[in-house]
Amino acid sequence: MGVREGHSTGLPALRFARAKRRFYREARFLTTIRDMKLLIFAGSTRQNSFNRKLAATAAAMARDAGATVTHLELSGLNIPLYNADLEAQGTPPDVIQLKQLMFEHPAWIICSPEYNGSYTALLKNTIDWASSPVKGHPDWAQGTKPFEGKVVGLLSASPGGLGGLRSLSHLTPLLSNLQCWVAPRQFALGGAGQAFDADGMLHNEAHRQGVQSVLKQVLWAGARLHGPTGL
Ligand SMILES: Cc1cc2nc3c(=O)[nH]c(=O)nc-3n(C[C@H](O)[C@H](O)[C@H](O)COP(=O)(O)O)c2cc1C
Repeated sequence: MGVREGHSTGLPALRFARAKRRFYREARFLTTIRDMKLLIFAGSTRQNSFNRKLAATAAAMARDAGATVTHLELSGLNIPLYNADLEAQGTPPDVIQLKQLMFEHPAWIICSPEYNGSYTALLKNTIDWASSPVKGHPDWAQGTKPFEGKVVGLLSASPGGLGGLRSLSHLTPLLSNLQCWVAPRQFALGGAGQAFDADGMLHNEAHRQGVQSVLKQVLWAGARLHGPTGL
C-alpha cells in the first residue's frame, strides 16, 4: 500500500520534472524570448473560475520560460458597463490604466470562458472600453493604439467537452479587427472541473503541453515582431 502511494505521488512529479526540463531546453533555444513582457488575463471574475486558474498556470509556465509576466485580474479594475453617454462625461481612470498596460505589453495571453457559444460580456466590455478613442487625449485619441501589433495567444476552459473552443472562434476576428496578430495555435481545455489540482495547477501533462504550445508561439512571434525584450 505504502509503495503504491509512493508511486502515485512520485510518477506525476517525475513526469512534471521531465516536461519542465524539455520546456527549458526549448526555452533555451528560444533565447530571444527572455524578458519578453507578457500580459495574461482571464475573461471571468468568478472566485473558482477555471479560466482564472488557467491564466495562473500559463503565467507560472511563462515565468519559468523567462518571460516577464503581468497577470491581470479584471476584478481589480473599476470599469462600468460601456455607455457612450457615460464615456462623454470622462473615460474612467481604470480604463486609461488598462490601455497603458496593454500598450506596454507586446504579447498577451487571454483565457476565455464560453457563454452561449461565444466569449463573455466581461471580456467584450473590457475590450470595448480599451478600444474606444479618448477624444482630445494626448496618448489615447486613437482607439486601436493599445491593440495594434500585439501577439495574442488564446486559451479557453469549460466544464464541457469542447472546452470553450467556440468562444475563441469569435474572439479571433474581434482581435484581428483591432490589428492584433492572433497566434494560430490555440488550446481549449475540456472537462475543466477535473483538470486542476488543489493548488489550481493543471495536473495532466497533455493539458500542460497544450498551454505550452500556445505560449511558445506567442513568445516566439512576440520576440520576432518586437525584438528580444519586446520593446
Ligand atoms: C450564461 C452561461 C452560458 C454558458 N454557455 C456555455 C457554452 O456555450 N459552452 C460551454 O462550454 N459552457 C457554457 N457555460 C458554462 C461555463 O463554461 C462555465 O460556467 C465556466 O465555469 C465559466 O468559466 P469560468 O469557470 O472561468 O468562470 C455557460 C455558463 C453560463 C453562465
